[in-house]
Amino acid sequence: MDELKKIILTGDRPTGKLHLGHYVGSLQNRVKLQNEYNTFIIIADFQVLVDHLQDSSQVEANVKEIVLDYLSVGIDPSKSTIFIQSAVPQLSELTTYLSMLVTVARLRRNPTVKAEAKRIGIDSEQDGIIYGFLGYPVSQAADILLFRAHLVPAGEDQRPHIEQTRELADHFNKLFGDTFPIPDLLISETPRLPGLSGEGKMSKSLGNAIYLSDPIDEIRKKIQTAFTDPARIKRTDIGHPEICPIFSYHRAFDCKNADNIATMCSSANIGCVKCKQQLTEALEQFLKPIQQRRADFAKESNLLREVVTDGCEKARQVGEGTMELVRKAVRYDYSSLLL
Ligand code: TRP
Repeated sequence: MDELKKIILTGDRPTGKLHLGHYVGSLQNRVKLQNEYNTFIIIADFQVLVDHLQDSSQVEANVKEIVLDYLSVGIDPSKSTIFIQSAVPQLSELTTYLSMLVTVARLRRNPTVKAEAKRIGIDSEQDGIIYGFLGYPVSQAADILLFRAHLVPAGEDQRPHIEQTRELADHFNKLFGDTFPIPDLLISETPRLPGLSGEGKMSKSLGNAIYLSDPIDEIRKKIQTAFTDPARIKRTDIGHPEICPIFSYHRAFDCKNADNIATMCSSANIGCVKCKQQLTEALEQFLKPIQQRRADFAKESNLLREVVTDGCEKARQVGEGTMELVRKAVRYDYSSLLL
């Protein structure tokens, strides 16, 4: 690890394969930043249990898909440490200490937890919420602080968690002495992509996503049936690219052509069918090398195991270094009793 570089910690829940929204919102950024920062990428499997306790059987397969997605877009394991949350016990140890520094009332106020709970029909203000659900931001704070990260590239929805992480770090430092840097959130310049249905952002749970590993025929079908400007009924009606998800995809993945598309659409000089065809071609160009690399990596039978084993090993090592500081700071290193 290059000691002069600052540290990034970011990650994903292994709930499925990664899609174009992930690419634009975070993967692209990670590939760029891994050259300037010591990067740690956590696959947050404990967080899946928060709302999928009964169907954890897919998690291992999802982890494999995500690691393949990472490698295929250019995340380089020699620069970025990819690891699994549950395989780093120091994370749980740090979570225990941090959990003493936050009130239940403060946890209940976290807007992201509130929104996630509401989506599955729980009122986080009431007592029906599970302790681990209410508390997962504390575990996420441990994800970040165990690596003494300076920067957390993540989406806007993660802001409340980073805010809590900063409070926890500050609280710990004040009580036990300077131990953790106060991390900053880094929001990607490109906002998240809208979904194919035009409603909300692209997401697995809304079923409106194009996956990085979707075969091109499937992508073509998804684009053909995607939402466009509802005011454009006839071919001669002018379009409004700024509200059309197809246009957002042109902007993100067909940038040289995007201004041209905008002009043609808003003057009714191109129809949706043609516009969608051009997008499909652009996506095919963009995804071809990514999918080729994915196929090559998938053939290397030991690659994933090596990447993940090495990543977890390194994460445990770095984590143990931090825990030595933490145990000393809280005077739980038991130097008179433990060798
Ligand atoms: N909560 C994040 C998500 O749902 C995943 C995550 C877990 C994470 N730990 C993290 C993100 C630490 C950034 C930093 O996508």
